[in-house]
Amino acid sequence: MKIVSVKGMRDLLPADTVWFQRLEDEARATFAAYNFQEIRTPIVEPTELFTRSVGEETDIVGKEMYTFADRDGASLTLRPEATASVARAYVEHRLWERPGLCKLYYMGPMFRRERPQKGRYRQFYQIGAEVLGGNSPVVDFELLAMLRLLLERCGIQDAELVINSVGCADDRPAYHAALREALGARLPEMCADCQRRAQTNPLRVLDCKVPADQPIIAALPTLESFLDDKCRLHFAQLRQLLDANGISYRVDPRLVRGLDYYTSTAFEFQHGALGAQNALLGGGRYDGLTQALGAPAQAGGGIGFALGADRFVLAMQAAQALSAALTAPAAVIIPLSAGELQPALALAERLRRSGIRIELAESGRKLSRSLELASKLQAGYAVIVGADEAASGQWQLKDLSRGQQQHIDTEGLEARLKEVAAAAPAEVA
Ligand code: HAM
Repeated sequence: MKIVSVKGMRDLLPADTVWFQRLEDEARATFAAYNFQEIRTPIVEPTELFTRSVGEETDIVGKEMYTFADRDGASLTLRPEATASVARAYVEHRLWERPGLCKLYYMGPMFRRERPQKGRYRQFYQIGAEVLGGNSPVVDFELLAMLRLLLERCGIQDAELVINSVGCADDRPAYHAALREALGARLPEMCADCQRRAQTNPLRVLDCKVPADQPIIAALPTLESFLDDKCRLHFAQLRQLLDANGISYRVDPRLVRGLDYYTSTAFEFQHGALGAQNALLGGGRYDGLTQALGAPAQAGGGIGFALGADRFVLAMQAAQALSAALTAPAAVIIPLSAGELQPALALAERLRRSGIRIELAESGRKLSRSLELASKLQAGYAVIVGADEAASGQWQLKDLSRGQQQHIDTEGLEARLKEVAAAAPAEVA
């Protein structure tokens, strides 16, 4: 029987990975400019980490986690997201004791057992960053400014920033009471999840996707009028910074995000080209999360985001055509017979050491077949190495797009191929 990949988990082949790599390169460069450093946390964590931070009543914890018993009986979970892991690591290694803000980024696979569709997978890839130890709205602003730069660098122009304030532990009880009251008589008509959540965690009623419940949910009060002075001021200061720096946004009082750890600022960048899965990235502030995981008060608050790399790549593809030059070899070196294999190998080694992408054709094949392979690989040039070329060090260079041929020495060849490699990324921008 043929074995295929698990539903919702896909292979990323070179035609995909070239896009992921470009996104990762842009993200690393952007994070470095904002002085973030990388953290790599385990893919498997104690289940309790997610139940305590993401929250028991969320869709992620309640329905989507890959949880299993280890051989010693411990309950383990494939991480559905990484903020909880970063917060755990911050507490475990007492990172708040280091000078300044703790600014960390990560990249890697996450796992949620959702219904797969375009842009939504069971194994998907996130790139995210967290700033721990700071409570100022300036930190929120800088994170959003960094995201705008990253979107720009990736050529994504039409993403919309949507923000809201989801309040904090101090104002949540009043909001929960208002939700319960508003749900009141309509609750028996609603789905079983809503009925339970109305008791345990009414905010999560707003995550319900059941069509019949939507009119009731649309009529529920929003958080806005329940925010305390501290949250109201924080949100006003953030908006002022965004306005003063020309970052446009829309306030959506219904944006609550589906994870329990959020407090105060919540945001998403949404993109029309993605259809139903329109959230390119999401994030927010989570003051109190590290304390809930055992840190002292002076460990401060936190804010972060994660982008869905799979969706980001779809938006990048919609925005621009990636040149084949990024994946194709600059040249294919063709030794005409076994006698020329050694000089061809030495030439290939030299060019590769200077960072040029080189493919080596099998020696002793018909030249026409090797040239055919070179064009199928979309190589820019073929370098033909016959006995005369090997003896003189004057290589025969064939420009595969123009069909022109010339003799060239090693230095000249290296310079020409480097020019091609340098031109490739510019075609993408
Ligand atoms: P999230 O909104 O659950 O937030 O996920 C962030 C992003 O991951 C989404 O906007 C989406 O682009 C992508 N994503 C989520 N689920 C899937 C899926 N099944 N398939 C493909 N892409 C998906 C978090 O995970 C938070 N940890 C973000 C954060 C960081 N908040 C503070 N710090």
